[in-house]
Amino acid sequence: MIVLGIESSCDETGLALYDTERGLLSHALHSQIAMHQEYGGVVPELASRDHIRRALPLLQEVLSQAKLDKHQIDAIAYTQGPGLAGALLVGASVACGLAMALDKPIVGIHHLEGHLLSPLLASQPPQFPFIALLVSGGHTQLMRVDGVGRYQLLGETLDDAAGEAFDKSAKLLGLSYPGGPAISRMAEFGDPAAYKFPRPMLHSKDLNFSFSGLKTAVLTVVKNQPANICEQDKANIARGFVDALVDVLVAKSITALKENGLKRLVIAGGVGANQQLRTALNAAAAKRRYQVYYPELEFCTDNGAMIAFAGAMRLQQNPALATRDYGFNV
Ligand code: KG4
Ligand code: ZN
Repeated sequence: MIVLGIESSCDETGLALYDTERGLLSHALHSQIAMHQEYGGVVPELASRDHIRRALPLLQEVLSQAKLDKHQIDAIAYTQGPGLAGALLVGASVACGLAMALDKPIVGIHHLEGHLLSPLLASQPPQFPFIALLVSGGHTQLMRVDGVGRYQLLGETLDDAAGEAFDKSAKLLGLSYPGGPAISRMAEFGDPAAYKFPRPMLHSKDLNFSFSGLKTAVLTVVKNQPANICEQDKANIARGFVDALVDVLVAKSITALKENGLKRLVIAGGVGANQQLRTALNAAAAKRRYQVYYPELEFCTDNGAMIAFAGAMRLQQNPALATRDYGFNV
């Protein structure tokens, strides 16, 4: 079965073709980051318009990469939500229009399920069951995953998501959107002893997170800096911030593994691309003989491959999910 995946929940248009026999056949992505950068964040209306411009050329691209004709597609999976309403509507409309024209079924996929299953696209995928740490721009969750569709939420952020904390703190340091990768690079040169920021909820008895206090702590420090704050001081603040956030993510992930008696941890979502997080998780896991699995870097952030893959897994498990009812909800 060949599934076309369409992702358009935020500022990336991603399309991909996944074959349940041969694996990922092709994928293509257009990132809108450069377009939104001058506004300091995603402008929803511009995002929707750009998805419209990009979707069909990207479809041609994935078909020609895979040397397939559009009639060889067996089903179309699209991101149903959560995300920006207008952006989601574009992906859903393209999926339904195409499916109707080709007389193929569609399946709506939860964006987070796409992220959650993305590490299974790797050449050496983890086996079920595992704990998943889902860290994106909009969500921070710990899940127990026993199989496709068998997810148990163990904990989540009570306020800001990890990626949001990265982006907001980066903005406070004058870095442009999305600041996650930039503040992370800056932190590499920072002194870890210069600032000790709070580790919110590190010792709470649950697996929930809270990052808004950390962002406020960064704000307070930044406000007290001279207008001509030097690059080294900025790097020290960045380092203090990244260390605090990473400490909490690592500690709660290890607790989740222990409490569930599991040894496999899977990281998904944009913040999963973060090098400091990967280094700290690998060290903590190695000590306890746990294994950590990451998606390929290009599949950490939003992409079509994870939607095509999640669609294929869902349809393989339950073919009745494939519908020709083209009225959709996003
Ligand atoms: O999963 P994603 O592409 O989109 C959502 O579903 O939200 O995640 C985007 C988030 C942004 O907040 C971005 O700053 C963050 O992931 N991010 C990073 C890194 N790469 C992306 N944060 C820290 N370090 C990175 N290397
Ligand atoms: Zn995402």
